[in-house]
Amino acid sequence: MSGKIIFDNGKHQCIMFSDLVKGDGIQSNQFLILHSDEETVGAVIDPGGDLTYTPLTLALLKHTDIRHIRYVIGSHQDPDIIASLPRWLLHTQANIVISRLWERFLPHLNSAFTTDRLQEGYLKRLIALPDEGAVLPLGKTQLFALPAHFLHSEGNFQFYDPISKILFSGDMGASLLGDADVRVEDFDAHIPTMRGFHQRYMVSNKVTRFWADAVRQLDVEMIVPQHGKSFVGKAMINRFLDWIGNLPCGVDLLTQNDYDYAALINSAKVD
Ligand SMILES: [Fe+2]
Ligand SMILES: [Fe+2]
Repeated sequence: MSGKIIFDNGKHQCIMFSDLVKGDGIQSNQFLILHSDEETVGAVIDPGGDLTYTPLTLALLKHTDIRHIRYVIGSHQDPDIIASLPRWLLHTQANIVISRLWERFLPHLNSAFTTDRLQEGYLKRLIALPDEGAVLPLGKTQLFALPAHFLHSEGNFQFYDPISKILFSGDMGASLLGDADVRVEDFDAHIPTMRGFHQRYMVSNKVTRFWADAVRQLDVEMIVPQHGKSFVGKAMINRFLDWIGNLPCGVDLLTQNDYDYAALINSAKVD
């Protein structure tokens, strides 16, 4: 529950929480980046929903004062990413960062009660990322919001930390089995834990290939997805990029038969 420090140079830390989801929710990783110069500033990435709000807050308090959190960042709009939005708005002063595609949908997560308590000021705390990406200042460093649209969400960002060289990849690279607290050791054995998810959730090979080619241009030491194990070191990262860049997925795999309404309706007919 206290989080695993995945990078620490004394002034800059990245911490992963991988065991906060209890019950039937999908295993999810949440992240904290802390940067200290004259002052300490932090960012939380993909905090999750109500399910993780309280345990995550308690875990964060072991590392920092909640008032240091400048950003609560959602890679996209899913419940396991940002459904806890009203709580962050109510209980912290953090800005909420999300694709501009989802900015106007997020207020639907707030109850009327929350909206009344927040009054109109809370919209000023939503930072809408433009499609082409953005630079988020974090003390004397910065985080890069990299466009990763359609991987899987239409308005989707990943976050690159140039100090740790970690790419926080959201659902890209997610795996659904095994211990999330450890790195991938055997890539071939890991494929079955990723394949079905990527083939159904990622939109097409066109975009997975664009993404893989773009990440090859970056200096990345670790790809850390929001579910499951991490890819550590250039060799393992390249195995993943080669695999996903060649994977048919999403609309590549669909045929007219996937929209065979007559077959479904006829199958229910009782003579
Ligand atoms: Fe998602
Ligand atoms: Fe997810």
